Amino acid sequence: MKENLELILKNASEEINKAQTMQNLEDIKLKYLSRKGELNSIKKNLKDLSDEDKRIIGALANKVSNELEELITKKNEEIYKIELNKKLNEEKIDITLPSDFRPQGKVHPLTQTVSEIVEIFQGMGFSLVKSENSPEVETEYINFDMLNFPPDHPAKDMQDTFYTKVAPNVILRSQTSGAQIRQMLNQKPPIRVISPGRVYRCESVSARKNNLFHQIEGLMVDTDISFGDLKGVLNEFVRLYFGVNRPTRFRASYFPFTEPSAEVDVQCIMCGGKGCRTCSGTGWLEVLGSGMVHANVLRNVGIDPEVYSGFAFGMGVERLTMLKYAINDIRLFFNNDIRFLKQF
Ligand code: DAH
Repeated sequence: MKENLELILKNASEEINKAQTMQNLEDIKLKYLSRKGELNSIKKNLKDLSDEDKRIIGALANKVSNELEELITKKNEEIYKIELNKKLNEEKIDITLPSDFRPQGKVHPLTQTVSEIVEIFQGMGFSLVKSENSPEVETEYINFDMLNFPPDHPAKDMQDTFYTKVAPNVILRSQTSGAQIRQMLNQKPPIRVISPGRVYRCESVSARKNNLFHQIEGLMVDTDISFGDLKGVLNEFVRLYFGVNRPTRFRASYFPFTEPSAEVDVQCIMCGGKGCRTCSGTGWLEVLGSGMVHANVLRNVGIDPEVYSGFAFGMGVERLTMLKYAINDIRLFFNNDIRFLKQF
C-alpha cells in the first residue's frame, strides 16, 4: 500500500507538471482526489489493516493528498497567469493610433429658426396645429376661396401657383394660411395656434426668391380679441426673436383675409435705422404680414363674427433667418453647401 501511495504521488506529480490547461488539472483532480479517485480507493481499504499500519498508511495517504492539492493549486495559478498574459497580448490595442474623425451633424438653419419661433409662441400659449390641418398639397378652395380671395385674384394665376395633375383645382399651397381655415373648421374658439410649413410659388429663382420656402402661420380667435392683442403678441415676438428692444412699426397693408391688415417692420439690424443697402435706405425691414381675421373668413368657417374676433399673421422663415444672420442669398439655404451649413 505504501508503494501504491508513492506511485500515485509520483504519477500524479508528473501529470500535474505536464498539465497545460485548467481542464487538464480538473481531470487530474478527478482521477486522483475525487470520491471515486485512486487515493480514496486506498483509504477505503485502510479498515482491513492493523491499528499500527492504519496510522502509518493513513497519515501517508493524507500527506500525499495534501501534497497533490498543493501542487494543483500552484499549477493552477501558473496556468491562470499564462492564459491571462496570452489574452492580454491578443487583445492589445494601440492607443496611439488616431481615432476615426466623425464630423458632428448640425440642425439646418431654417429648422433652427422654426424651432426658435415655435418656442417663442408656445411661451405665449400658442400650440401647433395638427399636421393634417396643414397639408402641402391643397385645394384652391382652401388656399384661396375660403380665405376671401376674389375669383379673379392675380395670385391664383398660373404664373404664381403650381397646379397639379391630380385634379383640377388641386395645387401646391402658396401660403400656410389655409391652415387657419382647416383649424377653424375643426375647432371652436378659443383658438390659439401656429403652423409652420413649406409653401410653393411658381416664380423665377433669384437671390431673394425661391420656388419653395417656409412660412409660419399664426391664428388667435376668441371673444374680444382686438388689434391691441395683435400688436402686443407681435411686438413681444419681435423682441424675443431679435433679442433686443428694437423699435417696430405697423404699416397699413392689404390681404384679402384680414381687415384691417398690417405689415410689421423692425428697425434695420444692420444700420439701426440710418438707412443702408440691407434696408434699401429706409431704415426698416419688413418681417411679417398680419391683420384682424376678415368677417367673411369667420363666416366661411361657421364662426359668428358678431360674437368672435381674431387676428392672424404669417411670416417667412427664410426672410427672418436672413435678417438675423445677414445672409444675402436665399439659395444658400437649398444648395446643401457644407461650408455654409456648418456655420450654424
Ligand atoms: N399669407 C400671406 C402671404 O403669404 C401672409 C399673411 C399675411 C398671413 C397676413 C396672415 C396674415 O395670416 O394675417 O403673403
